[in-house]
Amino acid sequence: MGSGDAKMSGGERRPRELPVFAAEELLVRECARHGTVIVVGETGSGKSTQIPQFLMERRTFGGRVAVTQPRRVAAVSLAKRVAWERRTKVGGLVGYNVRFDDCTGKKTRLRYLTDGMLLREAMLDSTLKRYSVVLLDEAHERSLSTDLLFGVVKRAQQERRATNMPLRVVVMSATLDVQLFMRYFSSSDKTGDAFDEPVAVHIRGRQFPVELRYATESQQDYLDAAIVTVLQVHLSERENKGDVLVFLTGQEEIESCAELLEEKAQLLPPNALKLQVCPLFAALPAHKQLAVFAPAPPGSRKVVLATNIAETSITISGVRFVVDTGMVKAKSYAASTGLELLRVGPISQEQAWQRAGRAGREGPGKCFRLYREQDFLKLRQRSVPEIKRVELSQVVLQLLTMGVRQVDKFPFIEAPPTDALRQAVFQLVALGAVSVPSRHASAAKKSDGGDAPQGPELTELGRRMAALPLEPMHAKFLIESERFGCTEEALTIAAMLSVESPLFTPRNARREANSAHRRYLSFEADHLTLLNVFGAFLEAKADAKWCQANFLKFSTLHKARKVRQQLVGMLSTVLETSALGSAKADSTPILQCLVSSFSLRIAQRLPPDGKPGVRYKTFAESLETRIHPSSGLARRDPPPEWVVYNELVMTSKKYLKGVAAIDQKWLVQFAPALFQAQAQAQARGGKTGGEALAAGPKRKPKENDAAQAARVDVRL
Ligand code: CDP
Repeated sequence: MGSGDAKMSGGERRPRELPVFAAEELLVRECARHGTVIVVGETGSGKSTQIPQFLMERRTFGGRVAVTQPRRVAAVSLAKRVAWERRTKVGGLVGYNVRFDDCTGKKTRLRYLTDGMLLREAMLDSTLKRYSVVLLDEAHERSLSTDLLFGVVKRAQQERRATNMPLRVVVMSATLDVQLFMRYFSSSDKTGDAFDEPVAVHIRGRQFPVELRYATESQQDYLDAAIVTVLQVHLSERENKGDVLVFLTGQEEIESCAELLEEKAQLLPPNALKLQVCPLFAALPAHKQLAVFAPAPPGSRKVVLATNIAETSITISGVRFVVDTGMVKAKSYAASTGLELLRVGPISQEQAWQRAGRAGREGPGKCFRLYREQDFLKLRQRSVPEIKRVELSQVVLQLLTMGVRQVDKFPFIEAPPTDALRQAVFQLVALGAVSVPSRHASAAKKSDGGDAPQGPELTELGRRMAALPLEPMHAKFLIESERFGCTEEALTIAAMLSVESPLFTPRNARREANSAHRRYLSFEADHLTLLNVFGAFLEAKADAKWCQANFLKFSTLHKARKVRQQLVGMLSTVLETSALGSAKADSTPILQCLVSSFSLRIAQRLPPDGKPGVRYKTFAESLETRIHPSSGLARRDPPPEWVVYNELVMTSKKYLKGVAAIDQKWLVQFAPALFQAQAQAQARGGKTGGEALAAGPKRKPKENDAAQAARVDVRL
């Protein structure tokens, strides 16, 4: 396709004053000479919207251009923005592709994707040959999938080096450890060819001075402090009508803060500016996000309550004041306990600077740090990359699908802990997704002179699991549902588990909401509650007013329905026969299917020992937990003996969420890899399998126990 096709028609909508335009020629020249270009430039300088267009418009590069984003909101809004600038429809020349939403067409040459989606493409074609240029945006975030993509594009670049369509890579970021990336992308064999040497380009941003204010004392309650600060700024800065951006940690916190601020706003003096409160988090439906970007109505000031999404990936105009709580919600994982948790913790210094910078985009600004200066100095310089703090079973599944059998040899930009990789392999073995050749077999192969790579191998089940864009246990649940004859229900459950809770409980109508929700509540399984809600939603013809009257979130249910439709399409290629049938009244197959696929998430009730509440011990990690109070099972009397759960979360305590009561007999029957050996070992002590299981594990069942149970030798 000639460059003329990609040129814009109609009036000019590209903001030529963006700093990146001054670097257009330099960027294009460097991309032509070098295989890898590292671009560093302030948020809002035009990197994500303009650089992909520069490259798409040049004949030199040909082919298609992919731009990755760690967040789906950013991928979608960037594609829409660029399509608008070019006066074309999204899905034409410019499109986006995020999980469960593909808006691209045959003509699409510039594709914004989430990093996870490009990784999925790499699982089918590891050289990414449909693209001539891949831009990895927001690289400083070091999201799990972006980190893996660094390795993928590096390998692809080597493989395509000698072909007539070399792969060009652009790494873009607001702040970056440039040296780390320069070293990583430098070719080990010095060819002397500029193509093999990466180059860095810095784009000068526009940044006005930002006045910093620190708290004088450490805060007991940062939410409260944030609300007080917003009101103080609002009342004391009457001359400066700039908007306020508050950094909080998550949806629930933002929603409750919004309610409180709105209540307080009613009490403002009549002559004060009005306050317009706008929440912003990744799961917010697109139409509600628009309010964040629209200017505040005359006579009012906007207060945006955002997660770290507003740090670099989304630019909000009008902001002059930043309130930084210093907190962020992030995953953390310890291979020793096998526990992955979403926790609220302190940000890094780099994040604090990014947050402050948001106040100085359009004029001098102020940033209020709700922590003391000495505490700022104690923060770590940079955040720990996600790959070092998450559970890696999905990563291992993806690497194996791409043909990387020695997962620890993959060219990670920074390698994850070996223990975490080993633990992930063990989990996949326990799920039946992966098999590990025995020491004996691999030794025999070696002495044969065989050169087949060693290490774990995907099973047929593993291959089918990897084809679904779900976390491994959810994927197994869908696949296993065929065997249990409950695919219709499993599709709904998997879709509902991939969105947030559909139950809406406003603070001022708690009792009415709870009584409305009681209609759907199952005391047997939260999964059945989800099925009931979804069934009622369809019966009510997916009506928004009906949802409101019944305290259900319409946008969430609507999203779940779309996800379900997509899963139906994907399943037909994954299942052997079409298992879709009508939904059944009997819930037993669903519960058994849960045991079979979530066998690593089983917990047993602990005998009462005087401590308050009913406590459960998780089988895999041997942790004491409780059923989350929002679960129907928390209200069951007597509480179930054995449960299977969807996730373990830590707020004030450790809680099990998405819980279902199960029959103990099913453990040996449907999860023999983990429970049979346990039952047998303990039965040798004179008990029956069932009694032995009920007696609980004698020792802490850590990785090695369960690995033995699965009769494998977990090595990488
Ligand atoms: O990538 P970088 O942060 O450097 O900038 P960008 O995302 O390309 O944004 C450049 C400018 O485009 C922003 O300052 C906004 O004015 C505008 N923009 C927008 O209006 N809507 C979007 N979804 C993205 C950008």
